[in-house]
Amino acid sequence: MTKQKLLNLLEHRKGEILSGPELSQELNVSRNSIWKAINALRKEDHDIISVKNKGYYLKEDSDGLSKSDILRHLGSLADQYHIIILDEIPSTNTYLKDQEDLPHNTLVLTKVQTSGRGRRGRSFYSLDEGGIYMSLLKSKDLEKYDLDLATMASALALSQVTDKVLKVESKVKWVNDLFINQKKAAGILTEGTMELESGTLSRLIIGMGINVNTKSFPEELIPIATSFFLETKRMHQRNEIIAKLLIELENYLLMTKENPSELLKQYKAKMLYLGEEVHVHRGKEHFAGILRDLDEKGHLLIKTADELLVLSSGEISIKKREDL
Ligand code: BTN
Repeated sequence: MTKQKLLNLLEHRKGEILSGPELSQELNVSRNSIWKAINALRKEDHDIISVKNKGYYLKEDSDGLSKSDILRHLGSLADQYHIIILDEIPSTNTYLKDQEDLPHNTLVLTKVQTSGRGRRGRSFYSLDEGGIYMSLLKSKDLEKYDLDLATMASALALSQVTDKVLKVESKVKWVNDLFINQKKAAGILTEGTMELESGTLSRLIIGMGINVNTKSFPEELIPIATSFFLETKRMHQRNEIIAKLLIELENYLLMTKENPSELLKQYKAKMLYLGEEVHVHRGKEHFAGILRDLDEKGHLLIKTADELLVLSSGEISIKKREDL
């Protein structure tokens, strides 16, 4: 408990030196307890600096994942979310799928995923501790959303937050990838659980993997992957980004029902390859066509040499060049 209270205090007064006696008086615990809590927080990647004969402070760019910091950034919306932070699990999406009794709006985060999953059975690189690997569970009032558009809404929320935080113009590659300067910086995997009797979706899981403070990638990913750090040459605050994402996610999910045409308009404005030739992969088959448009359900309209195809996200992926 002391550890959490101390972190709250240091976060509120980030960058300010607080003396040992001041901390122990403020939290009403011994100096020894403060010292132990500081060591425990350092082990959790919080960058706490000791200044000889003066005290301690949390560095401005300290970027440890912290529940209290995320809640602080959520402000008045904080009581709507349940946040779980773990050290290492196979996949945050799988974690939520496997635990059936977790409440609506549970957000699970992990420092590392050992089997991060992407669309169409692909893996997602999740070993760098500077990334955000998170999944949000929605299990109440799903009728407020058009679930066909949920992945697009999530991609748009992610892209808008990225643009605001990084001051860049990110793009979305249909349907779920975030690109900055032609390289992938994040991916989204939305999954659902069906209610057998009614045939309706009872749980929606929105998983996001974002390369935030990742400084390098394995050799094979270097030509195609990037991170917020590599694009801006500075560290970013993951807790703040996560809170902003939760807020925008809800806004854009509501837009799927309340104003889908505006959602599609905004999505198209950010979409890569619109009007260009793309290569479509459908199972083992692949073919070229012009990416003409999106229909009102967010399906792709692809004009091949012979016909106009309407393609949904479950079955295909698109690439700009055959070799990517
Ligand atoms: C893709 O690239 O096709 C989507 C990648 C989605 C990765 C995120 S990381 C958090 C969540 N857990 C997973 O296993 N996958 C998603």
